[in-house]
Amino acid sequence: MQAFVLKAYGGPESTGLTQVLLPEPAPRQLLVRVRAAGLNPVDFKTRRGDLRLVQRYRLPVVLGNELAGEVVACGGQVQRFRVGDRVFARVAKSTMGAFARFAVVEDDHAAVMPASLDFATAAAMPLAGLTALQALRDELRVTNGQRIFISGGAGGVGTFAIQIAKHLGAQVATTASPQGEALVRQLGADTVVDYTKESPDKVLSGFDGAFDLVGGHALEQAFAMVRPGATVLSIAGMPEPQTASKDLGRGMGLQALFWVASFPLRRRARQHGVHYRYLFMHPSGKDLSELGRLVDAGALKVIVDSVYPFERIAEAMSRLEAGHAKGKIVVTMPDGSE
Ligand SMILES: NC(=O)c1ccc[n+]([C@@H]2O[C@H](COP(=O)([O-])OP(=O)(O)OC[C@H]3O[C@@H](n4cnc5c(N)ncnc54)[C@H](OP(=O)(O)O)[C@@H]3O)[C@@H](O)[C@H]2O)c1
Repeated sequence: MQAFVLKAYGGPESTGLTQVLLPEPAPRQLLVRVRAAGLNPVDFKTRRGDLRLVQRYRLPVVLGNELAGEVVACGGQVQRFRVGDRVFARVAKSTMGAFARFAVVEDDHAAVMPASLDFATAAAMPLAGLTALQALRDELRVTNGQRIFISGGAGGVGTFAIQIAKHLGAQVATTASPQGEALVRQLGADTVVDYTKESPDKVLSGFDGAFDLVGGHALEQAFAMVRPGATVLSIAGMPEPQTASKDLGRGMGLQALFWVASFPLRRRARQHGVHYRYLFMHPSGKDLSELGRLVDAGALKVIVDSVYPFERIAEAMSRLEAGHAKGKIVVTMPDGSE
């Protein structure tokens, strides 16, 4: 079958469309005919080798972390799904494999697609949607009436995060360029700072929590924007030791490394009397079903920046890597099984 494969860590030239063997589902896996797959920054970060310390792959490997499609076979122990089901999923981090005509998915990472969505829109949801839900509901524990700051509101995760924070009852402030402002306001952002002209920490303060999607200087600014005792949660900064040991758990060496690497951020947080946490999203079919219910109820819109045919996935990847997508970029598969 045709797949988009990483042959060696490096630039775009180290990837390509090529023929690989059809994967076989293990007892707790589904074999899915992929109809569409979503792109995420983790795809090009993996290609560049940026994440080798936390996730190693034996190359060549099929890239791609989320998909929507039809179940064509089930492993012997699968009970919740049947052949023909329309499903969407974040595939296992340890294997990837969504950029292919067929992919295997752990049964507990998958959910039945929202009835109101087509494959391209459903494929845009799993990774960014789960990240936003788990960050706001489980880590920041957003409650009614709170004020929440979200940096980088116009991208894949941000467009979900603004809506979920609003759904949880928060007032939301975010940053966007002039090209993203109308979109984030339409999604419910109450306050928007144009980050190309103004530093948000100069004009905003006193938030009950901050969700950082940008990292770097934007993350450092967030420490001054939350009230004492509040949490700044990042998905783009440096994992702190607690999260590193929970999610990476690879012995003292790696933990010591993250202790040192995250020290400047933890010190900055301490100086402001606030907490710093990092989140690795967790694949979850249960949480995906929850997102699907929100979509079917009209409480959550999926914002798709652009849809490319699978043959043009390199172009789609280069648009994502430029860093200015508004919502999600998706590739769709041609009909037929090759
Ligand atoms: N830890 C995890 O589990 C996890 C999960 C998901 C994502 N992530 C990470 O989270 C980050 C965001 O992911 P994503 O999918 O949302 O990325 P994305 O879709 O590529 O984000 C693009 C958006 O970011 C905006 N942007 C860029 N620089 C900005 C800045 N300085 N301030 C405000 N907005 C800015 C851009 O707006 P303009 O074009 O208008 O400038 C664009 O709309 C990535 O680093 C990704 O790897 C981590």
